[in-house]
This record gives sequence, C-alpha cells and structure tokens, in this order.
Amino acid sequence: MADVRDRNQVRVGVAGATGYAGQELVRLLAGHPHVRLELAMASSASSPRRDLPALAHLWDGGVVPLDLDALTEEIDAVFLALPEEASADVAPRLLARGVRVFDLSGAFRLRDGAARAQWYPKTGEVPSSIVYGLPELRRSELPAAQLVSCPGCYPTAAALGLGPLVRAGLIAGDIVIDAKSGVSGAGKAPSERTHFSECHGSVSAYGVFAHRHAAEIEQELGLSVTFVPHLVPLDRGILETIYTRVGAGTSEDTVAETYRAAYAGAPFVRVTGGTLPVIKQVAYTNFCDIGWKLDTKTGRLVVISVLDNLLKGAAGQAVQGFNIAFGFDERAGLLT
Ligand SMILES: NC(=O)c1ccc[n+]([C@@H]2O[C@H](COP(=O)([O-])OP(=O)(O)OC[C@H]3O[C@@H](n4cnc5c(N)ncnc54)[C@H](OP(=O)(O)O)[C@@H]3O)[C@@H](O)[C@H]2O)c1
Repeated sequence: MADVRDRNQVRVGVAGATGYAGQELVRLLAGHPHVRLELAMASSASSPRRDLPALAHLWDGGVVPLDLDALTEEIDAVFLALPEEASADVAPRLLARGVRVFDLSGAFRLRDGAARAQWYPKTGEVPSSIVYGLPELRRSELPAAQLVSCPGCYPTAAALGLGPLVRAGLIAGDIVIDAKSGVSGAGKAPSERTHFSECHGSVSAYGVFAHRHAAEIEQELGLSVTFVPHLVPLDRGILETIYTRVGAGTSEDTVAETYRAAYAGAPFVRVTGGTLPVIKQVAYTNFCDIGWKLDTKTGRLVVISVLDNLLKGAAGQAVQGFNIAFGFDERAGLLT
C-alpha cells in the first residue's frame, strides 16, 4: 500500500475485458489519472490475443488469455468482470497472493449462506472480509477492504432509491419494484430471450419470484419486496418504478429532506424530486437519479430510480469503490 501511495498510481489488471462490463472497465481505467492499466484478459488460457477496436487510441493494449500468474505479478488490484463461477474460483487465489480484488459478479454479494447456496450454488465458501461495494452506503468500510463485492445493477437502483426512506423508518407498506432493463444487462452471449428479433419492438417480464437480485435487494433493505424485472428494447439503462406507502402525516418536505441528507456528500446520486428522471439522462454516466411523487392524502409513494447498468450498475460503481478504497477522489476517472 505504501508504495502505491508513493507512486500515486495503482497497477491494475482486468479479467473479463472482452465482456460488456469489462470493456467499460478498460475504457474507464485507461483514462484514470491514478491507474496504470497493465493487463486486460479474456476467458481461456488458450484463447488468442485480441484487440478491442472500440477502445483504439484510448487503450491500445491487446486482450491476452487469462493467466493468474501474470495477474498477480506487479499488480496491486484486479477487477473481475467474469461469470460468478469464474470469480468464485479466481478471487480467493488473487487474495491469497495479496492482490486487492473488485468483483463485479454476484458470487460474493449474499452474506447468508443458505441464500447464497440457493442463488449462486457454484460459489461455495466465500473469503472473509468482503465489503459490499455500494459506496453511498458503505463508504467507511472500503479503505480496509481486500475483496469488494460490487452490487448488482437492479439492487443498486433499488437500494439507492429506497435505502434512505427505510433507514429513516418512513416506509409503512408493502414494496413493489417494477424494473425495466436494457438488453446489455444479460451480457454479450445471445440467448433466445435477448435475441434482437425477440426483444425488438417488445417488452417482457421475467424472473417473477425467481430472480437472484430480489434476495440482494432484501438483504440491503432488510425488508421483503415484490420485484418484477422486465426486458425492454434498449441497449443499456435501468428504470425502476417503486411503489410503497409512507406513514400517516409524512410530508413532501420530510421525504425531500431525508433524501437530501442521505446524499448530501454523494457525487453520483442526483435527487430530482418531483421531476421524474429518465434513462436518457444517466446513460453513459455513473449517476443514479432519483425522483418521487407522494400522495399526501393516502401516503402512497412512487419512487423512480434510474441508472446505466454498465456504469453505476457495474464498471463505474466498481471504479468508484476502487477510488475510495485507495484513497483517491471518489470521482477520479469518472467525472473529471
Ligand atoms: N451486464 C451488466 O449490466 C452487469 C451489471 C452488473 C454486474 N454484471 C456482472 O459482471 C460480470 C460480467 O458481466 P458481462 O455482462 O460483462 O458479461 P459478458 O459480456 O458475458 O462477458 C463475460 C466476460 O467473462 C469472460 N469469461 C467467460 N467465461 C469465463 C471463464 N469461465 N473464465 C474466465 N473468463 C470467462 C468472457 O471472455 P471471452 O470473451 O473470452 O468469452 C468475457 O470477457 C457478470 O458476473 C455479471 O453478472 C453485469
């Protein structure tokens, strides 16, 4: 750590650099003022070296085959943008060699063993000292973290949208989260559901009572929720419409002040109040925008939370956590 501070540059590797989230990581880290991007790796040890044409002139390094030895040689931190079973295998081995790990998969997000066995059965035992990397809620834990488990995209929008109200004790009814996601949320490998001709011109619900992100949302809020994700014909972005009730007599000012106080020092959360946010205003950014409407007569509250699934929902959030973990300005490489 001391030499990292002396150099003011962290030597970084990315695994999963050919994936959607991994390419965003490479783009962000290549332009980061305190990062030296040393290595970007793809899946198999036998895969050929590949270029990333979309990143030419931003980062001209090639993507090389996955090689754990190279990933720990003179590297301070590794970002894993891998399927969860690969992360579950690779992360403990990197940690054992003293490398700090920022994992974008779901492998380490659920603290309860039974829930993890249900939703991430290939994860097995998890290392201790994991920090759930939602910077707005866990800022103080990040500097000591060796393994940062970056939150899922849907849970980020839900936890930021509802967390302050839950912690303030304002929620007084069931919570229903109606979530819409662009297709890049499913990763680059096409499936029948995500095939262009299936999702173009259509909207579909999926994973009802059967989505692993519901468990993560409930873990972070400490409340049960009805969570229904939908696939919409966008390439990126998430919009969650959250329906609930607040206690009798809760005023607009109370809700507004609760959000304002929660996010006063949070550069990536923009509270828009009664101006309801849309995906277009957060696409390609690390912002999560939150607006709401309260019917004071009935206590019915609708919260709208939007973010870019590949940035605040994945790569951008991981870099934000990295910045805090290494003592840099939280906005480095993201806003500057
Ligand atoms: N997409 C999102 O919006 C999003 C949001 C939050 C979190 N995440 C999580 O981030 C991770 C990456 O997601 P993604 O959407 O970027 O996935 P993706 O587009 O499918 O990319 C997966 C990456 O992992 C590599 N890979 C696949 N199998 C591997 C294996 N067995 N060992 C090592 N590397 C392997 C792939 O390399 P090749 O190109 O060589 O196959 C590729 O670089 C996932 O865990 C996902 O759940 C994704």
